[in-house]
Parts: sequence; structure tokens; C-alpha cells
Amino acid sequence: MTDSPENSPEDNHQDKADFQPPELRFFGRRKGPSLSDRKQSLIDDLLPTISVPVDAASNVDESPLDLKALFKGKARKYWLEIGFGKGEHLAWQAQENPDVGLIGCEPYLNGVAGLLTYITEEGIDNIRIYGDDARHVLKSLPDASLERVFLIHPDPWPKRRHARRRFVNPPNLDQIARVLADDGEFRVGTDHPIYREWTALQMSLREDFVWLAETPTDWQTRPDDWPETRYEAKALEGKATYFVYRRTARHET
Ligand SMILES: C[S@@+](CC[C@H](N)C(=O)[O-])C[C@H]1O[C@@H](n2cnc3c(N)ncnc32)[C@H](O)[C@@H]1O
Repeated sequence: MTDSPENSPEDNHQDKADFQPPELRFFGRRKGPSLSDRKQSLIDDLLPTISVPVDAASNVDESPLDLKALFKGKARKYWLEIGFGKGEHLAWQAQENPDVGLIGCEPYLNGVAGLLTYITEEGIDNIRIYGDDARHVLKSLPDASLERVFLIHPDPWPKRRHARRRFVNPPNLDQIARVLADDGEFRVGTDHPIYREWTALQMSLREDFVWLAETPTDWQTRPDDWPETRYEAKALEGKATYFVYRRTARHET
């Protein structure tokens, strides 16, 4: 990304000062090329059996998600991935962590079809899918119900006028802090220098998260249990950053 007047580093500083909570509107794309018959049948037949029953208009006070029931009592703990793309990271985590129940949120139908393909080909049974905006799921999750949240290469929205669309923002971070258990982990990956700076700043303002990096190597090196995603493999903007935060224990703050 070249620095146009619209997205220069100076403008980005201006964004931070001017930041306002975003509206609950999704700005990405929901559909790509037509699905093959096989993928369409996964959407029609498999998806309804592993969908997360969240109503976009639901309210946590009225209908908190019952995670135990969602995973049929088989999971010991629960993780969430926001914007799983084609699902390779989520599928990998599910296979490596069979005792964990993983929820993946992705509004892009072709991405959902990609994850369903992994699920069916690899016989994965510990993933549940919400094919829409993760903010609906966050809103419906009980307090302190998750051990991990992944946000891997969120759309960077580098232009100043789009800053409000960045998923890392105060209202979303409030929700992530609410649903994470004490000492739970929040991982954010990005290849974009503006998003890296933005995330570091937004997170540094919070008392409910602690950045676990001790040296630059910690955020410049992909952890062994953090597989490369499709997006990262073709990332154009630079080397990826791997942020890992711990949700502080409630009694610490
Ligand atoms: C740049 S892609 C990265 C995909 C994947 N994590 C990867 O690394 O390959 C960002 C993804 O986030 C999804 N996304 C954007 N906003 C979202 C939201 N509010 N809730 C859930 N997913 C979202 C987009 O549809 C897109 O698939």
C-alpha cells in the first residue's frame, strides 16, 4: 500500500484520535463465484446441522448461547475464530485440539463452503459455524465463556475514511474481553503496517489485556500452533505480525 494523502501514517494518527464506535453493519463481500454442486450441497445439507443458532437481533440477556448443548457436552472448553476465510486455520486448530469446541464466524459464503469441505473430508466434529457477522455471536455468548479468540488477518481497511470498519475497535474489544475467561488468549494476526500500529495502540489502551510479547522475536515469529493461512501466504503488505494477548484476571483490574 503506498501512502496516498488518504491513508498516510499522519492520517492514521488522526483516525485514532477521531475514532467513533462503528455501526453494526458488515462491509465485506458475502458471495463470490458460483459454488460447485458439491459445495452447494454442503451448504444445504451439512451447514444446518452444525450452525450456531444465533439470531442477528438477539440480546445476551434474552438468549445466551448454550455452548454445552451446542457441542453436545463433548467439549471441555470453547474457542472462537472471527473471519475464518476458507477455514484452514480453524480446521487445523480443531484437529489439533479435539477436546475444544470451536465456533467459526464468516459471512463469506464461499469461505463457509471451504470450511465445510475440510470438515467433511477430515471428519472434523468439533466445529460449529455462524455464517454471518461475528458481532452477533459475541453479543450472544455468556460472560467468561471462551478460552481463546482468534482474529487472523482481519480486513485492514487502511484508508482513513474506513477506519471505523476495522474489527479491532473499542466496542468489539469490550465484547471480546467480556466473553474471554480470566487468562484467556486473544490472538490477532496482520500483515498490514497500518493495522499493526492500530492494533498495538488500541490494545495498549486497555487494562483488560496484557500483551505477552517480551522481545520483537515474539511478535515477528509465527508460533508453532498458529498455522499460516491462505491470506498470509499471499500477503502483499509485508511480513506478518503475531499479536498474542492475555485477558487479565478480573480481580487484577
Ligand atoms: C482478509 S480475510 C482473512 C481470512 C482468513 N482469516 C485468512 O487469514 O485467510 C478477512 C475475513 O474476515 C471476514 N470478516 C470481516 N468482517 C467480519 C465480521 N464482522 N465477522 C466475521 N467475519 C468477518 C471477511 O469476510 C474475510 O473473509
